Amino acid sequence: MTEERIEAMLAELSPAEKAGQLTQYFYFKLPGEVDPALGVDAGEQPRAVEAALGRGGVGSLLFVADPAETNRLQRLAIEGNPHGIPVLFGFDVIHGLRTIFPVPIAMAASWDPETIERGQAVAAREARAVGIHWTFAPMVDIARDPRWGRIIEGAGEDPFLGAAVAAAQVRGFQGGGIIAGPKHFAGYGASLGGRDYDEANISEYELWNTYLPPFRAAVEAGAGNIMTAYMDLNGVPASGSHWLLTKVLRDTWGFTGFVVSDANAVKSLETHGFAADPADAGARGVLAGVDLEMAVSEPAYDHLPGVPEAADAIDASVRRILAAKLRLGVLDEPYVDEDRAREILADPQHRAVAREAARRSAVLLRNEGDVLPLDAAALGSIAVLGPLADSRRDTIGPWVFDFDLDETVTVLDGIRRAAGDGVRVEYAQGIPVTQRVFPSMFDMFGGNRPADPDGFDPALELASAVDLAAASDVAIVVLGEYQNMIGESASRSSLELPGAQLELLQAVAATGTPTVLLVMNGRPLDLRWAAGHVPAILDVWYPGSQGGNAVADLLFGAAAPGGKLPFTWPRTAGQIPMFYGHTRSHEPQNQYRRYWDEESTPLFPFGHGLTYSTFEYANLSVSAGSAGVDDEVTVSVDVTNTGGREAPEVVQLYLHQRHGRASRPVRELKGFTRVVLAAGETRRVTFTVGPEQRRYWHAAVRDWVLDATTFDVWAGGSSTAELTTTFEVR
Ligand code: BGC
Repeated sequence: MTEERIEAMLAELSPAEKAGQLTQYFYFKLPGEVDPALGVDAGEQPRAVEAALGRGGVGSLLFVADPAETNRLQRLAIEGNPHGIPVLFGFDVIHGLRTIFPVPIAMAASWDPETIERGQAVAAREARAVGIHWTFAPMVDIARDPRWGRIIEGAGEDPFLGAAVAAAQVRGFQGGGIIAGPKHFAGYGASLGGRDYDEANISEYELWNTYLPPFRAAVEAGAGNIMTAYMDLNGVPASGSHWLLTKVLRDTWGFTGFVVSDANAVKSLETHGFAADPADAGARGVLAGVDLEMAVSEPAYDHLPGVPEAADAIDASVRRILAAKLRLGVLDEPYVDEDRAREILADPQHRAVAREAARRSAVLLRNEGDVLPLDAAALGSIAVLGPLADSRRDTIGPWVFDFDLDETVTVLDGIRRAAGDGVRVEYAQGIPVTQRVFPSMFDMFGGNRPADPDGFDPALELASAVDLAAASDVAIVVLGEYQNMIGESASRSSLELPGAQLELLQAVAATGTPTVLLVMNGRPLDLRWAAGHVPAILDVWYPGSQGGNAVADLLFGAAAPGGKLPFTWPRTAGQIPMFYGHTRSHEPQNQYRRYWDEESTPLFPFGHGLTYSTFEYANLSVSAGSAGVDDEVTVSVDVTNTGGREAPEVVQLYLHQRHGRASRPVRELKGFTRVVLAAGETRRVTFTVGPEQRRYWHAAVRDWVLDATTFDVWAGGSSTAELTTTFEVR
């Protein structure tokens, strides 16, 4: 039935209309006529798209999130041409549509797939209500270079955690009623020097063992779409790679959904020096396996009717697009109910889910002398310092477009609400707002923190912040990066706190007032000084529209932090790339002396995160001391909450293969589970370790292999866990 309906529709379409089904246009109305970032006339672009809609020249649109607009444009598509096929609306619903969740790297730091799934289901519900059918998310690119701004959009450095987070997001989005589009296939996170869009040269060994597993997990979770990547992967543009898009994705993994290019990436096949001209780019895109071209204007797929050798590929792609429309119900119910959309966007339950997610994603990096949680009853005054403490736009982070700043709760707002009437909460900015050296292409969406007003006196501002700290019982300093300093087109050559932030922190700490540092970030920053001098450091990331409430819950102990780092936190940019899953090399005893001017250890290891209690691990055991190469074993460990209050802990399991046909990483995460234990409670946690967890891709064999060997096993609360045992594989 489905198939017949698709075939009947396909048979009706002219070659130009088929090309139209394979074209996705940006549609946005920007202030000003010519947008320099996109090089297009922002006034003319929407008019051209509307004309194309009317002649059946559009299969999909992106960037519309207003239900009245989705309905209006849908009407143009349906009523404007004889075959009237509705368009798919895609959008970057990355960490929420109206209700903004913590940024993706923060959600990954929860190490809590259920929280992640629930969050993306809320995002999907809001998106579907306004007419969005499909999100360009999750971003599942492994990132081991924090200079790359897009590290914030993913789950960090580890393929096992990355795979779990990818699958949870796909379940959340698709369970909530929209298609998920894992991206950017593949290897984008490895761009040279962390420079956005630069080439990636990834060995076959790393590709299969490190970069591809999250994609495979997303496909296995049923993702309906995949987005290509911009850059060259090992010399071939990812968006023109038949090997990636057809051999790996479809032939090896059995992907049956549709593939979209990243923005203008088919046209860019010419820019790369790969395709001869736009017509060649279009032909090579569709033949490689790009079903839908995402374009701002003049798509390369306009040329497809003139490429007879691509006729079968074109038909196959059109079938996939129509199948997606059918599966989503768009063909039968193309319009949305605008009143209902307003109700859904205002659902208070969505805010509650976001607040809980923000609580669970914060990572307590340091808490000397148990400075946290604060006892509100014992405090007379709190100084809240730093521009980020009071910035709504920064609190929600980058990659959001349909947010509501009026309902966003800053850290200052949250502390004021939670501290209670008896506590005096005062705020000082302390330092000038720093701007990027070069502006961001996302600045056109507005909302960035404005520059300081005329007459702003930095010396006076710092002095008054320091006075306030000196006169208060505790100083809470919020530092990090402004949200437009991270994300796409936001790579950095250093990890330093921008501007005068360190100066503020040092001056405040020098007052002797107990100081808490809250970090708002999406990448590790140079916190060497803070880690030696500031007793409490809580990484709150960009915590979303309920962020301030969640942060206050954590500061005052209504909730205990339980997040863990999804990346290794280097001391300085010179150590990059730095990740825990490296192999052991010549003279490992020297491993920690690889630089003569800096420690070779990270500032904080992968998987690190404290809470308001303590945990002990004991009785680590393996079900069988020796197992066959295809057998499963189980690994169990007792975890005890040895502190005085209920608290969460992420129990982590690491493996190391001692010898075999390749050198294997010193440790690899192979299991984790987030538990909440009452004070004094012990729980036995069990993990399964089967061939799936032990196999690896061997570059010379060009296949997955399993070695007969000895495995070391560690269980604990971070990648430096010490409790260990072994088992043999025959
Ligand atoms: C990004 C994608 C995004 C697309 C549409 C591109 O520049 O690389 O991740 O989905 O724009 O906004």
